[in-house]
This record gives sequence, C-alpha cells and structure tokens, in this order.
Amino acid sequence: MYNSRITGLGYYVPENVVTNNDLKEFMDTSDEWIQERTGIKERRWIDPKTGDTTAVMGAKAAKIAIERANLTKDDIDFIIFATLSPDMYFPGGGVQIQDLLEMPTIGALDVRNQCSGFIYSLSIADQFIKTGMYKNILVIGSENHSGGLEKSTRGRGVTVIFGDGAGAAVLSRSEEEGKGILSSHLHSEGKHAKELALIGPSTERWVPEIMEANDPEDTSYFPHMNGQFVFKHAVVRFSEAIVEGLQANGLEKDDIDMLIPHQANLRIAQFIQKKFGLANDKVYNNIMRYGNTTAASIIIALTEAWEEGKIKDNDLVVLAAFGSGFTWGSVVIRW
Ligand SMILES: CC(C)(COP(=O)(O)OP(=O)(O)OC[C@H]1O[C@@H](n2cnc3c(N)ncnc32)[C@H](O)[C@@H]1OP(=O)(O)O)[C@@H](O)C(=O)NCCC(=O)NCCS
Repeated sequence: MYNSRITGLGYYVPENVVTNNDLKEFMDTSDEWIQERTGIKERRWIDPKTGDTTAVMGAKAAKIAIERANLTKDDIDFIIFATLSPDMYFPGGGVQIQDLLEMPTIGALDVRNQCSGFIYSLSIADQFIKTGMYKNILVIGSENHSGGLEKSTRGRGVTVIFGDGAGAAVLSRSEEEGKGILSSHLHSEGKHAKELALIGPSTERWVPEIMEANDPEDTSYFPHMNGQFVFKHAVVRFSEAIVEGLQANGLEKDDIDMLIPHQANLRIAQFIQKKFGLANDKVYNNIMRYGNTTAASIIIALTEAWEEGKIKDNDLVVLAAFGSGFTWGSVVIRW
C-alpha cells in the first residue's frame, strides 16, 4: 500500500472585507457582541461584480495548490470538491473545476459534509491513493455563504458567523514510510440534522411550494442554527475525534505539533486548546479574519499556517472538524 502526502496547498478569499461594524448597516448587532461570542472581527464576502462564485474561488485556490505541488493540471487524476453552497443545485461543483481549469475528463466527486467536508474529502482521497487507484488528487473546499444569508436582525444569529472563501490541497502518492496521512476518522449523527440546516429549497420544501406560500415569515430558505445546542455538541465531538486520532496511532496529546480545528467559533477552539493543554503556537486560528468558511475553513487555515512556516517537516498535524449533519472527524498527518 502507498501513503498519501499533501504536496500542494492554496487558498483564495474575496477581496471584499466586511467588518462587524459594517454589519450594523442592516442588522441590530455590535462588534462587541460578535467578538465576545465568536472571536470574529471581520469576514470576506464576495462582491458579485467580481465574478467570484463557489466554483471560481475553488478553481483559483486549486491553481495555486497544483503549482505548489510542482504539477500541472494534466497530472491530476481526480477531483474532490466539498461545499454546501454550490453554484447550482445540480450538477455539483467538481465538474465546474474540471471545466474551469481545462482539465482532461477525469472523475469529479462532490462531498456534502458541510464543516467536516474537508476532513471527509481528505479521507476519501487518502483511500484512493493508498489502494493505488490514483496518484494525484485535487481536494477543494469552497463556500459562497454571503449570497444565501439572511441579512437582517432576524438572521443575525447565523449571518454574522459565516464568510466566503476557498482552499485546495493536492494529495499525492508517496512511498516514504510513516509520512503523510496516518489516519482519518469520520462520524455522523443524523438525528440532529435540523439543528443546523437549510431546509428549502429541497425536495422536502420545493421552490413552487415556497413561491406559492409567499410567506414573509418563511425562513426555510435561510440557514437555521440552534447555536447553543451546536456549541455543546461541538466541544464534545471535537475532543472525541482528536483523542480517537491520537489513540489510533499510539500518540499522546503532547505529540501534537499543530492542531488545526475547523474555524467554527474561537471560543470552541479555545476550549479544545485548554482541554488538551496545548500552547498557543500549537493551535492555528484565523476565524478572526475570515469567519466560518465551512468546508474551506480547515484548508485555508492549514495553508496559512504552512505559509507562515508554522508547519515543518516531520511535524504531527491534527485536523478536526464538527458541523452540520451532525458530522465530525479528524485526520492525523505526519508532515
Ligand atoms: C451562535 C452563537 C455565537 C450564539 O451565541 P449564544 O450565546 O448562544 O447566543 P444566543 O443565540 O443564546 O442569543 C443570545 C442573545 O443574543 C442575541 N443575538 C443573537 N445574535 C446576535 C448578534 N449577531 N448580535 C447581537 N445580538 C445577537 C439573541 O437574539 C439573544 O437575545 P435575547 O437574549 O434578547 O433573546 C453560539 O451559540 C455559537 O457559537 N454556537 C456554535 C455555532 C457554531 O459553531 N456553528 C458552526 C458549527 S460548524
């Protein structure tokens, strides 16, 4: 069996910065409230005039990752694309990447696992590489949240948290023992699906039904989040996923060189940091600048940490996520 290693990383975020104070233009909120509860200072929201979309941002991030892997688009064998905000209801965004990057007719798979999307995608890519089916896989997480958020006081509990952006990684075959992805663990608990969900438009609540109802109180086509419920589950599941990943490899929490938690809420990340007794330089957070970018969040943070020289050869890097589904999981990497 082969190993898989991350050989290229890239990210792209829209230029348009939206500060907490900017949000006050259309909702009753405050910089103080948002920072205290979430740690977020600003986020990026697409300016539609730029032409950025979920797929376009994903393609921009992918180009950087492919170049840094010292590969060309023609060396990529397979695309895995994670998003909850695709440009189209169907088809998925993976095929758009194939087209935008003018790639050969390779396979393209979409992953619908929200905040755990990158963890799931990395795990899938790892399996394809381990079995020898593919050599180089492009994994992308991209989100255009701003287009679908409820920008009013009614939606403030959700809207202030989410930002737009994309990240990409190239996962490549390696024969070096003990390096690369050591393990991945994936979980779900669908009974909580509606605690963090966007119900309509869907076949459960289809567009004609929504239009016919024409109900100004209808919020089914905006994301709904039971914030405190999600928070309570997140801290437990994040911890479980990290412990599971460490134990599977016979490792201890002191072996962690860098923990990159999904950027859901700075308070969740700080809780985890404290629980595992990790020093500040062993946890990477950027939610302050980007908000929660869902499937893109870990990969943007991983790329930034790597660009800043915070991840070095042989480091033990732990990625962990929790989110809508509920879904959660971890990936342990020997860099
Ligand atoms: C969303 C979250 C920050 C809200 O914090 P909270 O302490 O739970 O706040 P609540 O929802 O209980 O609301 C408290 C009050 O603040 C108000 N409020 C909500 N959003 C607000 C905002 N953006 N600005 C100002 N006030 C706000 C509420 O209306 C409520 O007012 P009330 O007491 O008068 O009814 C928090 O629950 C959280 O981070 N949860 C986890 C979310 C998460 O991780 N999601 C992603 C998972 S991948």
